[in-house]
Amino acid sequence: MSNRAWQFLQADATALPFADSTFDLTLTSPPYMDARTYGINAQRGCAAWVEWMLKVVAECQRVTRGPVIIIAAGVTRDRNYWPGCEGLMWEWWKRGGDCHLYRPCYWHRVGIPGSGGKDWFRADVEYAMCFKRPGKLPWSDNTACGHPPKWGPGGEMSHRIANGARVNQWGHGGDGPSCIARLADGSRDRRPRPSHAAMTKGEWAGKCGNGSRRTIGEHKAGGYDLPILANPGNLIHTKAGGGHTGHPLAHENEAPYPELLCERFILSLCPPGGRVLDPFSGSGTTVATAARLGRRGIGCDLRMNQCELGTRRLLTPNAKAKKKPAAVTEMKLVEDVGLFSFAAGGGEVRRGI
Ligand SMILES: C[S@@+](CC[C@H](N)C(=O)[O-])C[C@H]1O[C@@H](n2cnc3c(N)ncnc32)[C@H](O)[C@@H]1O
Repeated sequence: MSNRAWQFLQADATALPFADSTFDLTLTSPPYMDARTYGINAQRGCAAWVEWMLKVVAECQRVTRGPVIIIAAGVTRDRNYWPGCEGLMWEWWKRGGDCHLYRPCYWHRVGIPGSGGKDWFRADVEYAMCFKRPGKLPWSDNTACGHPPKWGPGGEMSHRIANGARVNQWGHGGDGPSCIARLADGSRDRRPRPSHAAMTKGEWAGKCGNGSRRTIGEHKAGGYDLPILANPGNLIHTKAGGGHTGHPLAHENEAPYPELLCERFILSLCPPGGRVLDPFSGSGTTVATAARLGRRGIGCDLRMNQCELGTRRLLTPNAKAKKKPAAVTEMKLVEDVGLFSFAAGGGEVRRGI
């Protein structure tokens, strides 16, 4: 029995050697349309890419009970944008039945913007498409990467009434005729609305105590539950490119993405101790991040040298890493996945083809 929380396996993403619903989350980045060949003819035209990716997504969804997150972008050729990602989501949605989507997220690749050419705008973002089964996600913590709310609790929203006057607009109506916020003595109420008062982290911690929710009853009987963390939204900014991927070995893959991007999805969509799959694992960024965050990661790549690269990466601590791996012990991967046998104490790479 191994205590390793990760594994690499040579496999084709359209025929994964796993049982149905083996993973909690799939997070991956396939070869983009008409981009790199990876030495295995992996570039495809727009329509061919969509057809192929429909097979990949269906296979990933089969082995994953939670969401399947695909990082990708379209390309522009001869001043003509190829809407492969949009086409993929549209075709998936049209299938209906078990083929559902969540609104995509957008990855802002700070530091490596694309070129828009001489007459168009630069490309700063890529899609993080979310393919899923119907209904609620089996596990999610959508504020896991959230920040303390910036504004204090505001109670009633400001709004207009039938005669056009504004209510609950303390201090923001100025002296204009629409402002009816007056104190008992008839003077204007110039206090800022509580929701318009920025809070410092310390003030917020004071309100939320030791992290438990606290109800305040300022505005209504029954009170108001203070949110502890704000929803971080669907635009993810991370530095990308040289020095920002999370490990020097990442650059032995042609197109690595950063560990910070993986963090958002793994912390938010895979429970602690759960299983994450990357069917296009390359240098092993997803698997390395999963292992660091106390999840179990499995990476597959068609190229054996990439499976070996992932293994080397996981066995080589990043001397410059600011974030140290969480202690991962007694992960019963062999038993759980029922596929691999490990050399005692070591992660293993398996030739599958
Ligand atoms: C964009 S790279 C992934 C990079 C990875 N996210 C990282 O951070 O290093 C895509 C990878 O997909 C692999 N690949 C291409 N076709 C494949 C297939 N049909 N099945 C599995 N892997 C494939 C390539 O070998 C390449 O390493």
